[in-house]
Amino acid sequence: MTPDFVKTAPIQDLLDRASGLTAQNGNSRLQAIMRDLLESLMTLIVKHDMSESEFWQGVAFLQQGAGEFGLIVPGVGIEHFLDLYMDQRDVEAGRTGGTPRTIEGPLYVENAPLVENDPNLTDDPDDTDTLYMTGSIAGPDGEPVKNAILHVWHANSKGFYSHFDPTGEQTPFNNRRRIKLGDDGHYSFRSKMPRGYSVPPGGSTERLMQALGRHGNRPAHVHFFVEAPGYRTLTTQINFGDDPFAKDDFAFGTREGLLPVPNRQGDSTYIAFDFVLQKADKAADERFSARTRANA
Ligand code: BEZ
Ligand code: FE
Repeated sequence: MTPDFVKTAPIQDLLDRASGLTAQNGNSRLQAIMRDLLESLMTLIVKHDMSESEFWQGVAFLQQGAGEFGLIVPGVGIEHFLDLYMDQRDVEAGRTGGTPRTIEGPLYVENAPLVENDPNLTDDPDDTDTLYMTGSIAGPDGEPVKNAILHVWHANSKGFYSHFDPTGEQTPFNNRRRIKLGDDGHYSFRSKMPRGYSVPPGGSTERLMQALGRHGNRPAHVHFFVEAPGYRTLTTQINFGDDPFAKDDFAFGTREGLLPVPNRQGDSTYIAFDFVLQKADKAADERFSARTRANA
């Protein structure tokens, strides 16, 4: 079958009708995107000469894996692609500089305790080293960013996040805080050292990774949102530069400039990391994306 099959009149007519383009109502942007999505899928079926069995196996995988879409999307590089695309649009708009953005991942929880600077993030006992993180939050001209809120979240020493811990052992908001900063743009906190995240054993993401000849591991890391009046909200994370998966993150979240090597001294580990924000061009820049997030 030639790929031109999709371009034949009956298939093009089917696409127009299936996407609602010939309907009187409906959301025109959605109709246009749906038409292209369906046409891409049909083109894929023809290009790979997919059998009916293969197609329905794919549908079953998506059905079974729906609960893990938040892991599968970064695992196949699409969340990182969105970052690269936003970077490219920024370059085209002349908006460069600042700490690189990188993936949020699916494990943020809204409404973490709002605390003053220099908090302890870890509520639960965790027999591992203590992490001390410090640094500054500055604007494009090096000015201290005033009244920032630093959202921090990370895994425990088993690689599990509170609210998503399969052992059920962690109390809510363990290793999660929103830290209210002052006028000097300085932050500090301490917590128990995280271990790298691995996808749930036997789950859809792991099965997909195995079938692709890949793994489902991330290096140890700490996530951040940085928000402040007048500045663009930053979504980023640091990955520990000495972790075995530092250069082989299954979720493609590690980026140049975001890989500090922890300074390990006995039971204490120190990381100094400075954030640089871009100025907000418009009110929307100060807001979070409309992504649906867990809410406790
Ligand atoms: C994480 O940040 O821990 C994460 C990111 C993507 C997929 C799974 C986990
Ligand atoms: Fe994470």
